[in-house]
Amino acid sequence: MKGNIAVLPGDGIGKEVTKGAVEILEAVAQKFGHEFEFQYGEIGGGAIDNTGSPLPDETVDICRKSDAVLLGAVGGPKWDNHPVDIRPERGLLKIRKELNLYANLRPISYYSSLSEASPLKKELIEGADFVIVRELTGGLYFGKPSERVTREGKDAVVDTLFYTKEEMHRIIKLAFELASNRTKKVTSVDKANVLESSRMWRETAEEIAKEYPDVTLEHMLVDNAAMQLIRNPKQFDVVVTENLFGDILSDEASVLTGSLGMLPSASISTNGPNLYEPIHGSAPDIAGQNLANPIATILSAASLLRLSFGLEAEANAVEQAVEAVLEKGFRTGDIADEQSTKLSTSEMVAEIKTVLLAQEATS
Ligand code: NAD
Ligand code: IPM
Ligand code: MN
Repeated sequence: MKGNIAVLPGDGIGKEVTKGAVEILEAVAQKFGHEFEFQYGEIGGGAIDNTGSPLPDETVDICRKSDAVLLGAVGGPKWDNHPVDIRPERGLLKIRKELNLYANLRPISYYSSLSEASPLKKELIEGADFVIVRELTGGLYFGKPSERVTREGKDAVVDTLFYTKEEMHRIIKLAFELASNRTKKVTSVDKANVLESSRMWRETAEEIAKEYPDVTLEHMLVDNAAMQLIRNPKQFDVVVTENLFGDILSDEASVLTGSLGMLPSASISTNGPNLYEPIHGSAPDIAGQNLANPIATILSAASLLRLSFGLEAEANAVEQAVEAVLEKGFRTGDIADEQSTKLSTSEMVAEIKTVLLAQEATS
């Protein structure tokens, strides 16, 4: 098949990890006889430096014309004191909104070879397998007003948590659809003891649950959910939650599997190309040193193959190659221990590529 993939490397390690993932996609094309065309676009701090905007129109165009988008990460100390409209992160939020990427799927899977890298005891994490479904285009991230104000004569600030019922409906419905094909349990995370928005969220979840009699719905308050993720992660199957809660809980959950550098994501559009990105950021502390773990981005590329192109065997091949390389004891610094062989970013990519190309063609 032929596919057009927009690649937005962004800043810091975003550049290094997308380079690695593109190499793996090229290896997939070679092995399985596909043709992928890669169009590069600017986003984030680099885009601000070169064009004055964190998301130039040209980048949005490239994405719209593509079948799928692969993104690295944005941000860095250089731009941290910019006004909010010309911060790198604004580019990321804007592309999510422009492409209607309402749902962000963040799968947490246990790798037996990484059990030592997890901060949890092996018996707690062994076999954990759940997905966080994060609402991505609403809530506090996008509500207006969001500004410094003077109120009652005082210097003050307002951020707005706004959701339409329809925005809640479509994301929770997606969670039930996913759960129907998994172990049939949805945990809806909210703060219904305090927030009006959470009470509407709960009500919406209850309504949708009636359409899915074989799926169990459980409500959990977000503070308890943060604790339960550590206490007993195996209780979860599909966790659905609003934008900010999902952001925080997924960084927490990522480390259960060993490292933030392991967790991929897929952002699903209502009407256009999906976007695939690791959940981590631009990691200024290790950027430019060939130290970053490229696996989160490579696994995001595997999701791209599966969800945007329907290439199930190819996606499986990439995932199996990652597992095989971990099983051989190869590790980047974030997951390394005394027993493992420490690799740079590019060495890790090369190992995964070698294993991928050597697999049986039918795998
Ligand atoms: P971060 O995710 O960049 O880094 C957190 C910690 O995890 C750092 O110690 C980093 O070295 C480590 N880490 C992250 N990814 C890694 C990888 N692949 N391999 C090895 N180690 C890895 O979060 P932060 O430091 O809070 O933010 C840095 C910048 O990134 C900020 O400007 C922030 O806004 C931005 N950010 C962007 C995205 C995104 O583009 N999607 C996501 C999160 C943060
Ligand atoms: C993420 C990031 C972004 C978010 C930031 C950089 C705007 O943390 O993708 O998880 O909060 O969504
Ligand atoms: Mn985040």
